[in-house]
Formats: sequence, C-alpha cells, structure tokens
Amino acid sequence: MNSENASVSLSNIKKCYGTVTAIENLSLEIPEGEIVTLLGPSGCGKTTTLRIIAGLEQATGGEIYIGQENVTHQSATYRNVAMVFQSYALFPHMNVLENVSYGLTVSSTPKKTRKEKAFRALEMVGLTGFENRLPSELSGGQQQRVAVARAVILEPDVLLFDEPLSNLDAKLRRHVREEIRQIQQSLGLSAVYVTHDQEEAMAVSDKIVVMKDGAIAQQGTPTELYEQPQSEFIADFIGDANIIPCEIESTSGNRAVVKVSSTTLDSYAAKHISKDMKLSIQPRNIRLTHTYTPNSLAGRVQHSTYLGGHMEYLINTDAGDIFVVDAEMNEKYQKGESIHAIFEATKTILVPVEQ
Ligand SMILES: Nc1ncnc2c1ncn2[C@@H]1O[C@H](COP(=O)(O)OP(=O)(O)OP(=O)(O)O)[C@@H](O)[C@H]1O
Ligand SMILES: [Mg+2]
Repeated sequence: MNSENASVSLSNIKKCYGTVTAIENLSLEIPEGEIVTLLGPSGCGKTTTLRIIAGLEQATGGEIYIGQENVTHQSATYRNVAMVFQSYALFPHMNVLENVSYGLTVSSTPKKTRKEKAFRALEMVGLTGFENRLPSELSGGQQQRVAVARAVILEPDVLLFDEPLSNLDAKLRRHVREEIRQIQQSLGLSAVYVTHDQEEAMAVSDKIVVMKDGAIAQQGTPTELYEQPQSEFIADFIGDANIIPCEIESTSGNRAVVKVSSTTLDSYAAKHISKDMKLSIQPRNIRLTHTYTPNSLAGRVQHSTYLGGHMEYLINTDAGDIFVVDAEMNEKYQKGESIHAIFEATKTILVPVEQ
C-alpha cells in the first residue's frame, strides 16, 4: 500500500466545552512517518486532541495542518485520516473481509480491487484464512487486528489510535502493540497513539507527549523522558520515581550536593538547578547493602516481597519511605533489618518542586 503520508501540526489548539477547558494552548508536531504517543492520566485531554485531528471535534481556537494543508475548518469526511478505537466497532453482521473492505465500498472502489486490498491488509495483520469469520467468532486480539486492517486499507495520511489495547489482556497487549508498531513502520505511516499506560507508550513510540490538565507537561523520546524528567509529575508518572524532599547545599554546573534529612548526597539536574527542588530516583536505581557506603541513606526494611524475577522493598528512612526494586537479588533482606540504600549519583535527578 502506498499511501501519501503527511506530517501533522497543531498550533495553539484550544478546546472548551462550555465552561470546561479540555485543551489549553496545545502545539504539537507529528513528523511524517513517525508515531507520536499522547500519554497522560484520565481526563487530561488525549481523546479530545485525537478527535480534533480527525475532525470529529472542532477546535475552539488555533490551527491544524495535515501536510501543507490547513484543515482547521474541514470536516472529518474531507480529512484523509483513519481512527482505531478502544472498542473495535466492527460490524457484527459482516464477516472479516466485508468489515475490512467496507471503507472502500463507501469510496466506490471497484469490487476486485477492494477484495485484493482487503486480502493484503489481512495478511499484514496476520489474519489470512479468517476472511469468512464473523467478529463474534474471533478473540479480542483478532478483532482489534481486523480494526487495524480496516483502518490501514484506507491508506490514510494519518492513522489515529485511541487506547486500542485496553480491552486486551496483558500478554495480548504486548503482542498486538508490537504488530501495530511493525505495520506503522513498514508502511511509514504518520500516527498518533493514545494511551495512559507508560510501558505501552515507551514500546510503540518515536516520541512521547505527556499531557496534564489539557497541556503538554513534557515531550521527548522514551529515553529522554525516562532519564531526564523535568518535573515531579513526569518523574513519578514515567519512572514511578521516589520523590524526596531535599535542601541544596552547593552546586557546580548541573551537579549538586543536597542534604536529605541529615545525610548529604550527590545528584544531577536534567536542566538548570533552582532553589526549590526535590530528589527523584527510580526504584531500580537504588541498591541496598548492610555496610555503610557513601551516597546512601540509612534505613530499615519495612516490607520485602519476592516477585520471581525481582524483589521489591519498602525502606523506612528519616526522609520518608522509599520504594526499591532489586533485580539482581545477590542478597535478600528481611523485614526489620537495618540497611543502607545507595543512591547512584548520576541517576539521582533533581526536579523542580510542583507548584
Ligand atoms: N463532550 C464533552 N462535554 C464536556 N466536557 C467534555 C466533553 N468531552 C470531554 N470533556 C472533558 O474534557 C476533558 C478531557 O477529556 P478527554 O476525553 O480528552 O480525556 P482523556 O485524556 O482522553 O481521558 P481518558 O484517559 O479517561 O480517556 C475532561 O475533563 C472531560 O470531562
Ligand atoms: Mg480518552
């Protein structure tokens, strides 16, 4: 399939529903052939943004371009955009082949071409041989793949996904998300993918846009967001980080010595260092030992849980409880044991205190 792919550009988009502001001045670029994920908590404006790109919702302010074309006031029918929904929305009385080719029926493509394209789209999602089944005769994952084939067959400029995997169990989610990523890459489609699952976002995206309260909190590659969070919200939302109050004692470039209760620790800031900052460290970047080691906090094991591939600990310290994930498991620590929690300096990131 050789669709004309296009970039998408949103400029100062605003969306109000009566007195509710769902989107606040949002500017966003989706480069051609890339998959950009909108990630954020419930109600932050992800679906609204997607519907504005599709033309299912008109923006209250701002402009939207698909390729070179200003589509701000164009209705959905005139935009070459296809959407895959959370509930696959297949026609229950049509078989798989009819469901997939339906969009082309509407566009009056000749029957033979329709059939050829539908077979090719089904092959792409690994459903060759399922053409005559009804949706009710398919598993959830297979139905979602039919929905993807039905969107892809339209050769859209832009493909939109709104939480496409939320009805699937964990194992299938992993499998289908890899398929979606592979199809998007093999067709070089520009895509916007909405999820509230950070692992899913990291797995499928070229770029992740984290939203909060209708605005962008931070955007970047999965690595940038994970390793250089620029706010308490991102550190917590993307990395499940421990956020610990601290006082800055001295700074040198992006490096700072901070005081956490009565202990001094080395740390880094992803951007510049300001007065009010907190320490953020991900559970996997803390190591536990019995013996005193520099750059560590003294504590006591409050909980220890064995989870097969790793141990989880809750450690009680003077600076509050910290959560630790130990995947190496060289030693197991028991509840009540005194330990030292070592903070790896380069992974101990300072983030501005949330206002
Ligand atoms: N038709 C509507 N009328 C009034 N308010 C709306 C309407 N649609 C959405 N909203 C509000 O706009 C905000 C953003 O909604 P949106 O559906 O975009 O969130 P979301 O990020 O997709 O959330 P979720 O993860 O729960 O799907 C919410 O506060 C919601 O209540
Ligand atoms: Mg939504």
